[in-house]
Amino acid sequence: MNSTTLQPTFRTENRPAEPVPRCRQPADIFESLFQSIQGGEVHARPTLELTPGSPFLPFLEIGYALRACLEKPSRHDYLIERLRPHLSVMIGTLPASILPMGMLPKLAPLPSFRPLEAISDEEVRDWLILEGGLIYGEMQRFELENYFDAIKPFLSPGGVMVDLGSGLGKVVMTAALTLPFTRCVGIELMNYRHRLAQERLIKLLTLTRKGLESLPRPLTLDTPLLLPSGLPASGSHLLELGSRIAFVESDMFKFDVRGASLVFLYSTCFGPLMDAISNKLARELQEGALVTTTTYPIKHPAFRLLQSHAPGTLSWTSVMIYQRVGPPMIEPASEVRYLHQPDVAAWEARVRTELAD
Ligand SMILES: C[S@@+](CC[C@H](N)C(=O)[O-])C[C@H]1O[C@@H](n2cnc3c(N)ncnc32)[C@H](O)[C@@H]1O
Repeated sequence: MNSTTLQPTFRTENRPAEPVPRCRQPADIFESLFQSIQGGEVHARPTLELTPGSPFLPFLEIGYALRACLEKPSRHDYLIERLRPHLSVMIGTLPASILPMGMLPKLAPLPSFRPLEAISDEEVRDWLILEGGLIYGEMQRFELENYFDAIKPFLSPGGVMVDLGSGLGKVVMTAALTLPFTRCVGIELMNYRHRLAQERLIKLLTLTRKGLESLPRPLTLDTPLLLPSGLPASGSHLLELGSRIAFVESDMFKFDVRGASLVFLYSTCFGPLMDAISNKLARELQEGALVTTTTYPIKHPAFRLLQSHAPGTLSWTSVMIYQRVGPPMIEPASEVRYLHQPDVAAWEARVRTELAD
């Protein structure tokens, strides 16, 4: 389907969520399940653990060094000097993690932690890229409904959906409910988000079981079932929901997406990672696989843009749908390109105002 011209009509807000007291038909089960996975964007964010074995120790060390400068007015000029070369990879005026509500614990630093002077520019840059990518956000329910409507014509029944950076798992669970994927997998780096996704999955499966038990006529594996997307499936879609969804705690760059038919990226905070992600996807995905991004495009020749949705249509931000084209690739094809070109003087004026407050 060549559909850069064919734009569906999109929803612009969530419909009111009525409580579902009893499940009389499968559609009631779906509604209660969708309601149970909303609202992840307002979850409590615990600080990172400052324990010797934590995989986040290198992240904490640099965060502590930057925060120590933030907390001392006499060190503000030095902080500005160290951040200035990296504005293209920074989200916001100052990194959110080092602000009072950020993810760094308030505990004293470990004795081994280095001061900022001993940390290289490259380490600061890599830290800023990781820090930006850890910012949390979710699409609202109506945006995901728009999204799955838009992607549906490009998908064949079955297949594997992967969300790289799956957070609390809303997209993965919505995908598994909405479309007849064989399997939906979420990959999340932060342990607490992975744990919350698993908790939400358990809640989802408990609600599914209760909903199935309260149906007046039992659903069997081959009972025809109409999915929320309007596509046909059978009772196994709900009866085997638990084996169709998986969450993995991992760095997306260590997780092989070979075999995925759709890779979802809420890439709004992944700007500086887009080329590395594109290279990985070009190497691993088979011809025909789909990749969708938000905010940032894929500029790799192994991907053809199928559809582009402007901000304020499908979602608050732009959404692009790509298809893997051409033979398998071994070598990275694109050099690193930074997409954000900041105004250094304007940033410095903003950062000085913020630091003075
Ligand atoms: C903007 S949130 C999106 C969550 C989810 N995909 C959704 O749309 O509801 C991005 C997530 O990516 C995770 N993340 C960032 N870098 C990652 C990496 N290298 N590997 C895996 N997850 C990562 C963050 O911790 C965060 O939870």
